[in-house]
Amino acid sequence: MALLRMTTALQLVTWFMISYVLVSTQASSVYAGHSSTGKCRCLFTEPCWPSKDEFAALEATLSQPLLAPQQLATPCHTSWFLNEECELAQELWVDGWWRSNSSNSAGGTEQPTFAAYYAPDGHIEACFLNTTLGYPCLQGNIPPIGVDVRSVKDIQLAIDFAAAHNLRVVVKNTGHDYLGRSTARNAFLIWTHHLKSIQYHDTFKPSGAPNGTVYTDAITLGSGVQWQEAYDAVFARGRIIVGGIAPGASVGAAGGWVQGGGHSALAPQHGLGVDNVLEMTIVTSDGRYHVVNSYQEPDLFWALRGGGGGTWGVVVSVTYQTHPSSPILAAYMIASVNAPTVDAGTADIPTFRALFTELVRITPTLADAGWSGYVDILPSDDTGLPWLSLLYIAPASAPTARSTMQDFFAFAQHLADSARPEEGALYVDLASIDSLSGFAEWELTNFRGKSGEVGVNTELGSRLLPRDLLQSNHTAVADAVLGLGIPHIGFYIVAGGAVSTVDPDSVALNPAWRDALIHVVFSPLWEEGASLDTINAARDLVKKGEAAFRALTPGGGAYFNEASLYEENFQQTFWGSHYEKLRAVKKQYDPIDLFVVPEGVGSEDWDADLNCRL
Ligand SMILES: Cc1cc2nc3c(=O)[nH]c(=O)nc-3n(C[C@H](O)[C@H](O)[C@H](O)COP(=O)(O)OP(=O)(O)OC[C@H]3O[C@@H](n4cnc5c(N)ncnc54)[C@H](O)[C@@H]3O)c2cc1C
Ligand SMILES: *[C@@H]1O[C@H](CO)[C@@H](O)[C@H](O)[C@H]1NC(C)=O
Ligand SMILES: *[C@@H]1O[C@H](CO)[C@@H](O)[C@H](O)[C@H]1NC(C)=O
Ligand SMILES: *[C@@H]1O[C@H](CO)[C@@H](O)[C@H](O)[C@H]1NC(C)=O
Ligand SMILES: *[C@@H]1O[C@H](CO)[C@@H](O)[C@H](O)[C@H]1NC(C)=O
Repeated sequence: MALLRMTTALQLVTWFMISYVLVSTQASSVYAGHSSTGKCRCLFTEPCWPSKDEFAALEATLSQPLLAPQQLATPCHTSWFLNEECELAQELWVDGWWRSNSSNSAGGTEQPTFAAYYAPDGHIEACFLNTTLGYPCLQGNIPPIGVDVRSVKDIQLAIDFAAAHNLRVVVKNTGHDYLGRSTARNAFLIWTHHLKSIQYHDTFKPSGAPNGTVYTDAITLGSGVQWQEAYDAVFARGRIIVGGIAPGASVGAAGGWVQGGGHSALAPQHGLGVDNVLEMTIVTSDGRYHVVNSYQEPDLFWALRGGGGGTWGVVVSVTYQTHPSSPILAAYMIASVNAPTVDAGTADIPTFRALFTELVRITPTLADAGWSGYVDILPSDDTGLPWLSLLYIAPASAPTARSTMQDFFAFAQHLADSARPEEGALYVDLASIDSLSGFAEWELTNFRGKSGEVGVNTELGSRLLPRDLLQSNHTAVADAVLGLGIPHIGFYIVAGGAVSTVDPDSVALNPAWRDALIHVVFSPLWEEGASLDTINAARDLVKKGEAAFRALTPGGGAYFNEASLYEENFQQTFWGSHYEKLRAVKKQYDPIDLFVVPEGVGSEDWDADLNCRL
């Protein structure tokens, strides 16, 4: 799958967007024949699974018919002839909206291989788009049944039913999760996609706050709202909001993104997603509806801001602070190399190394000058050689923003002009700084109507890089990045600035975020239908990369939403000193562990499939 093309560079920048696959290496507990009363969850394939009548009785109480989620490529397997829906699937396979859309019966994950089940012996249950691979279309990791919740009451009914029958539950919003946390084999789905309410508040008083507490220009988003919809509502007021950045802006604005932290190019100016929340509403596993904020149930409010999605209950809405808009500068750069004698596998091209090493060296300077955003290293389609894309923004009022970036462009141009042939030619294909009216113009121009960076097969690894490390040893950082042996790398300034000035204990988010400047992400890709051996080789690269960054940042952290399934000591890596309190809040609000996700709070009490308590 040609995910990233040179010609569409600027559309494809951030590739936290690139996707990922859940390929469980664990034996499915389906075969173990658990009962619903023991220490295991009841699964679809077992006798304990509720009967048709029981589901019918549930359905009769709900506002919508039950869902029967299907694999997205199903239409390509239903007839010998190409049908319209299959053509649509082929055309929109890498479209984040299509993948999360209601027309797809809730069966989509943003990353197709999350939908595929790989048994430990390599046996595959999936539904591949490419039918000539010869696999039948099977349910794989897509839950067979679910509830299309439209109200608090629907959520309560779904939760009560799941708890009463001890079902394995998954909560899915858009299905963007990079660790497969929004899908599970033989589970019961609670789908929040249609919780689309949006309410703008000129003034907002959190529930239970003392009289006189007033926030202005806040917005309450139902947990099914996606960033494009949220941006539209906020931009219409001439304001901005800290949100996810992706082609098409299809990431959920009030689901997993914010519960995991929520990074953005705007975070260095206005804090992370979690730092902008005023109130949340949620239904917990006992069926209770809570309105939580700094004044009411502050511990649950704290946990929901960084403690991770799918762990505390079903979030119904999130209220955010918005911010005034002001003019910005937008920097774009694309640099590519051509080195026919260099092995694309190692891609160690001196000019490219020099360029990237300089970028790392000046990253603290650029950040201090007001720049934030995304640098990606990607392989070119034809040669596989790396190219670099930079997409940064800064407040137009930042006095040294323009000059610091121009210095970097000049450095790049000088490298390009003076590179010796044996070092590989470097081309600066684009280097510009535009003046824009504000963040809205930047978001609309670069990301709207775009697709890509979903619908591919990959896994992530990542690490938060402290500012201190970048300052004290930039060459070690550059060497670690360039030594990954993984063609897709993101090097993002989404921390520092306002992210660093927040009291680390005010939210559950990993305190490591407060010292960080860079979120580095890397992700190998593989072809649809790849063997388990191929996938495991890709995973080994991820593990090796993570080990390299761990060595550079001992005791450091990683971003819960964009991490690997192989984090060593995930509790420390995702939450540091906040883990113990999170465990306690989890025990208080979800004592039956109805909501458990891979590498989530409390998941260590469960087996690798999260179906049986250890
Ligand atoms: C294309 C793309 C771009 C991205 N860009 C960014 C970015 O700019 N910044 C950033 O920080 N991250 C980004 N991410 C990562 C993103 O934060 C995660 O994928 C996140 O999990 C998405 O949340 P979701 O609700 O949309 O997805 P889902 O996969 O539906 O849900 C993610 C997790 O949250 C849980 N969850 C969802 N809704 C609820 C709810 N209402 N109540 C309780 N639990 C819930 C799910 O159970 C699951 O565990 C991006 C991902 C992709 C694929
Ligand atoms: C999403 O679904 C709606 C109706 O369910 C449809 O109108 C819309 O065109 C779909 N969009 C995409 C991108 O598939
Ligand atoms: C589909 O799979 C076949 C068999 O592996 C392969 O030859 C073909 O190139 C694939 N098609 C696409 C579009 O990937
Ligand atoms: C707060 O305001 C409400 C409504 O105006 C009033 O009923 C209440 O007594 C006030 N509480 C305090 C502590 O002043
Ligand atoms: C930089 O890091 C490398 C690799 O960890 C290490 O060998 C070197 O001593 C460090 N240099 C400095 C100046 O800290």
